[in-house]
Amino acid sequence: ALPRDLEGRRVVISAGGTREPLDPVRYLGNRSSGRQGYALARVAAHRGAEVTLVAAHTADLAAPAGVRVIKVGTAEELRSVMLAEADGADAVVMAAAVADFRPVSHVEHKIKKSDRDPDPLALTRNPDILAELVEARGAGKLAASLIVGFAAETGDATTSVLDHGRAKLARKGCDLLVVNAVGDGRAFEVEDNAGWLLGGDGTEEPIPFGAKSRLASTLWDAVNRQWHRQ
Ligand code: C5P
Repeated sequence: ALPRDLEGRRVVISAGGTREPLDPVRYLGNRSSGRQGYALARVAAHRGAEVTLVAAHTADLAAPAGVRVIKVGTAEELRSVMLAEADGADAVVMAAAVADFRPVSHVEHKIKKSDRDPDPLALTRNPDILAELVEARGAGKLAASLIVGFAAETGDATTSVLDHGRAKLARKGCDLLVVNAVGDGRAFEVEDNAGWLLGGDGTEEPIPFGAKSRLASTLWDAVNRQWHRQ
């Protein structure tokens, strides 16, 4: 049995991939399954936390027992739910794959096939929700004890996965960043779960290869340690 060591804590977790509509039937999306975010929610609830899971599009996953699930579609919807739910939370974990761009406009009626060439797709940037949560907290507009980000990185000839992760942690300013190594430049198909847990205080902990529930436990252990230090 898992320890009930997260009892009395309220945590908010985002999961899945956002979908940015072009028209009523088409969207820009990504391949996120939501499994890591769901595993985080399930493990946290088992360990006694009060869990809100903000789910963008996911694979067909069962809602974890005892977890409040709020479904969202777009990055903008995810943003407004996260900003509201994160206030007063003991931990906020951004495990969702947020679309970096969205179509500048989406139309009410299905875009029709036509004989002329289509216009190029005009895109605009989506807000960086994680950075915004950190900023809102810094400005005293949001109370959240710990803010955690995820980063799926590939290493290249000059910069390792770990260095990309360190740079991202500095850029986003979150308290913890889970860095997942994806691919290795040779086998892009392969995605393992090996990675690192980087702390804003400079700590770096390797995450052993394993299932997503295992990574979830490692993360909650680290979060719990930080809570006890606060
Ligand atoms: O910059 P990158 O997308 O690699 O950062 C990943 C982290 O930032 C994840 O925690 C993701 O949920 C979050 N993110 C966000 N808003 C975005 C893009 C990413 O909150 N627009």
